[in-house]
Order: sequence, then structure tokens, then C-alpha cells
Amino acid sequence: MTFISIQEALTKGKGTVAIRGWIYRERGSNEFKFIVVRDSSNIIQCVFKKEKFSSTDWDELDKLTVESSMTVEGTLKEDKRAPTGYELQAEKFTVVQRAEPFPITKDQSAEFLLDVRHLSIRSRRLVAVMKIRHTVMKAFRAYFMSQKFLEMAPPIFTPNACEGGSTLFEVKYYKEKMYLTQSWQLYAEAAVFALERIFCISPCFRAEKSKTSRHLSEFWMAEMEATWIGLPELLTFAEDCVSHVVQTVLQENAEELKILERDVEKLKKIKAPFYRKTYAEVLKILDEKEGLKIPFGKDLRTIEEDLVMKHFDKPLMVTNYPKEIMAFYKKRDPKQPDTCLCFDMLAPEGYGEIIGGSERDTDVKELEKALKKEGEKIENYQWYLDTRRYGSVQHGGFGMGVERVVSWICGLDNIKDAIPFPRTMIRFKP
Ligand code: 4AD
Ligand code: MG
Repeated sequence: MTFISIQEALTKGKGTVAIRGWIYRERGSNEFKFIVVRDSSNIIQCVFKKEKFSSTDWDELDKLTVESSMTVEGTLKEDKRAPTGYELQAEKFTVVQRAEPFPITKDQSAEFLLDVRHLSIRSRRLVAVMKIRHTVMKAFRAYFMSQKFLEMAPPIFTPNACEGGSTLFEVKYYKEKMYLTQSWQLYAEAAVFALERIFCISPCFRAEKSKTSRHLSEFWMAEMEATWIGLPELLTFAEDCVSHVVQTVLQENAEELKILERDVEKLKKIKAPFYRKTYAEVLKILDEKEGLKIPFGKDLRTIEEDLVMKHFDKPLMVTNYPKEIMAFYKKRDPKQPDTCLCFDMLAPEGYGEIIGGSERDTDVKELEKALKKEGEKIENYQWYLDTRRYGSVQHGGFGMGVERVVSWICGLDNIKDAIPFPRTMIRFKP
């Protein structure tokens, strides 16, 4: 018999089938054994009746442990009491490997589960998150492909800082010193004059010194860059893209959202247009509604972002942050010269910043000034400044934090569960 997935068996609902997988749960009596088998698609309860098996087979069934791998052949029967509505009445089985006692049992601490992530990755919860993560990346890609963007591979080793020197990971590169990329952006700004509309989904590295539930040392960023666009077009791309991502997950991952007990009504509302406010307007909201006075020129911290987002049920795009606290490449707004043509997208429900983006400065003198202010050596950035010397045009882009979006959509407590093997300042094994 050929094997089918457990989900295919559940969809079939009747007849004889053969499945294979791992023991999720088992219990039994002298007459029956109930073994719930899982594979990547779902779980199914298999019932073994003693009278159908030889005594050697029954002994073998009796010794089976959680996470043992096995195959089961039998007849499907609808049963409302079974965890997924059907039972497989087993006629034949083989044991592929009998597992040693599995170290993960009920009620273990989050830290222990991270210590054994190579095993806890099998949990239904993490499987659900990883499936949603897959959809998030697929939907980001599909959205930008539908807008005629090309996927471009950025380098991971880089000689430059993009988002400030303090979070750079230094690596030995033969006899040289190099860094792991913080963002594809500087390379995207070179490639955009060749390909015009590009995107990537790539790992990024930042030596974050803070222990928060939102920061990883290794995370994935989904980024886009295009020529002939300014802040208004960027905002439209950002809200359309995030709406598309959330709506695609709702369509394709209803089962996973159920496993995660996510309130989907909140996600159904996530459709463009999103809210828009300037940084100055946000300071006003904090002052008037939260009694919090933040002076112009101070960056918004997590706590302030969360206070603002109490007042919004859809993402908020905050534009025009103060120029003096922004990365060197963000273009000054000619209409409000103490601010930049930039934006952050903040997610509702306390998930904070999910996107950062801007129009790029095209003025070599301004860029040199801003780089000096950040303490960078201009000569290291000559290649980047070249992009402004040969037919420069207005361009811009943004980066979406994949794990931030996955955390929000899944309703996770900690970003570490949004990536299969998390790396933070204090967590880098297994
Ligand atoms: O706001 P950021 O730093 O923007 C950039 O890197 C730009 N160069 C992007 C661009 O314009 N192409 O980072 C973008 C997003 C943030 O909004 C956040 O969602 C995520 O990346 N992010 C992190 N996610 C997890 N852990 C970290 N340490 C992160 N740092 C940033
Ligand atoms: Mg940012």
C-alpha cells in the first residue's frame, strides 16, 4: 500500500489507508491501545484491538513510547470523540524505531524547551508557527512579484555598517575584518539602478545588547527597494503588502491559527488603508491621551510605541521622525526640514515596530555630513556614494521584520518562537 499523509487520510474519511509518523500520545488497556500518530500534516488516533494481533505484536505495541516512529495500516471510521474526528482502526503496523524515553513531558519551563529546541521543534504549536512563517514569506514574495519586482540576493559579508556601528557583528574574513549584514539596503541602492524594482528575504545580524521579547541577534528581513518613488508610494506598498500577508495567512492557515488560539477577528480587520500619523502627532497623542511628555528629538521606545498603539486597532504608519536621530541615508523632508521622509509601521496589540523604511538621500554632501556624524569613515563609503554620482534618481525602500510579523500574526509572547532556532545575546544553542 502507498502511504498518504494524515491530513489526506482525514480528508478521505473512509476506506483503508496506510500512514506513517511519530507517536504523539499513547494510552491503553488490556484490550485496546489508543495511539495518536502525528506527521507534518496533522494527528490521528489509531486504535489497536488486541484480538487482531499476535501476542508478539501486542507486546511490541505495549512497549512503544512517545515519539517512536511507526507505520499503520487500517480502516478509517468517523468518531466525534477522537481528537481530529476520525479513528484509524489498525490492522497492520511496523515499528521503524522505538524511541528512548522522550525528555519533553508536560509543564516544562520555556527555558528547558529552548535548551532542547532540536526536539521541542516537533510540538504542534511550533509546527503551526513554522507553517504560518512559511506563508508570511511566500505572501511577501507573491505580493512584490505581482508588482513586477525582481528578487535580488544580497551579500551577507559586508565591509560597512548600514544601521549604526554599535550592533555590528565582526567576523574574521581571511586576513581582513568584515561584518555580518544588518540589512541589504546599501547593496539594494546600488542594484536598484540596474533592476529598478527589487526585493529580498534574507538573514540579518545585529549584536543587540538588550534582552527583550522583540529582538533577535539573527533575524530575517523582507526588504524592497525601487527607483522613482517617494514616501507616499512606499506607504502604499507597505500597507498593501502587510494586508496581503495577513489575509493570505487567514486564508491558508485557519487550522494553525486555531491551534495557536489566535483571535482571528482582530486579524480580519487588517486591511489597507492603515492609519498614518507624523512623529509630532504621535507625541501629541502621548501627551494628551497618556499624560506622557516626550521632547521632540527623542526616539520612541517600546513602551511609548505600546502606549500609542492602545489607541489603534490596525497598524499605524508613523512618518517624519527627527532627522538628527535617523540613519544617515534617510532623506530630509524639504517641507519640514528637521524631519525625514521616513516611516515606521507599528503593529497593534503591543507587537511594536514591524517595518522601517524611507526615501533615500540623493545628495552626496548631505550623506557625507551624516556619515561623519555617525563616526563612519567616508572612504569606506565611496562605493556607495558612487551610486549618487552616476545618474542618481529618487528611490526608496523598506524592511519588514519577518519574526516580528510572525509573532504578531501568531499572537506569540516572545519572538524566539517565531524562528526555528533562535539566537539572542544569551541563547545560541542548540
Ligand atoms: O528599522 P530597521 O533597522 O530598518 C532597516 O534596517 C532598513 N535598512 C530597512 C530598509 O529600509 N531596507 O529594521 C527593519 C525591521 C524593523 O522594523 C524590525 O521589524 C526588524 O527589521 N528588526 C528586527 N527584528 C528582530 N530582531 C532585531 N534585532 C531586529 N532589528 C530590526
Ligand atoms: Mg527601525
